[in-house]
Amino acid sequence: MEQKQIVVSGIRSTGHLHLGNYYGALRNFVRMQEQYNCFFFIADYHSLTTHPDPGALNPNVRSILSEYLAAGIDPEKATVYIQSDVPEVCEVFTLLNMHAYVGELEKTVSFKDKVRKNPNNVNAGLLTYPVLMAADILQHRAHLVPVGKDQIQHLEMARNYAKRFNNFYQTDLFVEPKPYEPEGETIKIPGLDGSGKMGKSEGNCIYLNDEDKELTKKVKKAVTDMTPTEPNSPMPDTIANLFYLMKIVSTPETYNQFLAAWNDCSIRYGDLKGQLATDILKVTTPIRERYKEIYDDTDYLNRVAAAGAEKARENVRKTLQEMRRLMGFRTF
Ligand code: TRP
Repeated sequence: MEQKQIVVSGIRSTGHLHLGNYYGALRNFVRMQEQYNCFFFIADYHSLTTHPDPGALNPNVRSILSEYLAAGIDPEKATVYIQSDVPEVCEVFTLLNMHAYVGELEKTVSFKDKVRKNPNNVNAGLLTYPVLMAADILQHRAHLVPVGKDQIQHLEMARNYAKRFNNFYQTDLFVEPKPYEPEGETIKIPGLDGSGKMGKSEGNCIYLNDEDKELTKKVKKAVTDMTPTEPNSPMPDTIANLFYLMKIVSTPETYNQFLAAWNDCSIRYGDLKGQLATDILKVTTPIRERYKEIYDDTDYLNRVAAAGAEKARENVRKTLQEMRRLMGFRTF
């Protein structure tokens, strides 16, 4: 039987998951677990670069794990684990660091961004962030990594480290991981403020576990312009964003009905937003309800995390043993 390709992806444990995470990442993870040998983890080491309050770390990890599971990641199909439960990654990271050049790390776009935004916290963890990420990926010898655009440079660095290591030690140990592009159109959920994409730091998010009232209120507050006065007017971005969302969450009939109302100038934004909120809730409510159950089930969460860590460690140990051998660590 042909071996399944290996997929690795992680989400940093900072705050709750939003609709953009769901359509951009989670929903693809859920599909991929049917077809690939998947490792999905929660990148809690990575979240430390921005110094979260120690009291917040554990609840954040717990909520992301619960959200993964509530959104349909099945620990029977995929390996789900918490990064810090597999401390072998730190050794892989140390070994890879010997082949990661400071010059190239300093040139990384995400690093330069962080330095600019936060000049008082330029810690070494930020600088070596891409090496730890490469360790996450290479330790499983992943073929495919589903990531957003902002992570593509990090993935290229992981490919470089794989190549560099293979060349240096004359081995084919590491696979060069490729970005995974889901079939069909990639969905980028826009923010509700008419300003590009939905993002945690943008403060324009609909969270998967927003309660009905709160979610509806956010949608109602979405920025809209004047209603059109001429038939078939081009849509300003703010309105186009709402229609884009509607296309994703609503039925084609609903979408077409509102589009027709835009085109003949009879559209009422209150109705559009009301419908949109109702249809988003159809997607998020079942996830929110499962989330609550799972979040409260400590035994279940512990079982999932322990089993995931066990499977991940087994896989990583093999890579690490080979790295050590190649680099010259021997018993006497
Ligand atoms: N850096 C990623 C992000 O911020 C998270 C991450 C860490 C990751 N390690 C990874 C993603 C390995 C994919 C593979 O989104």
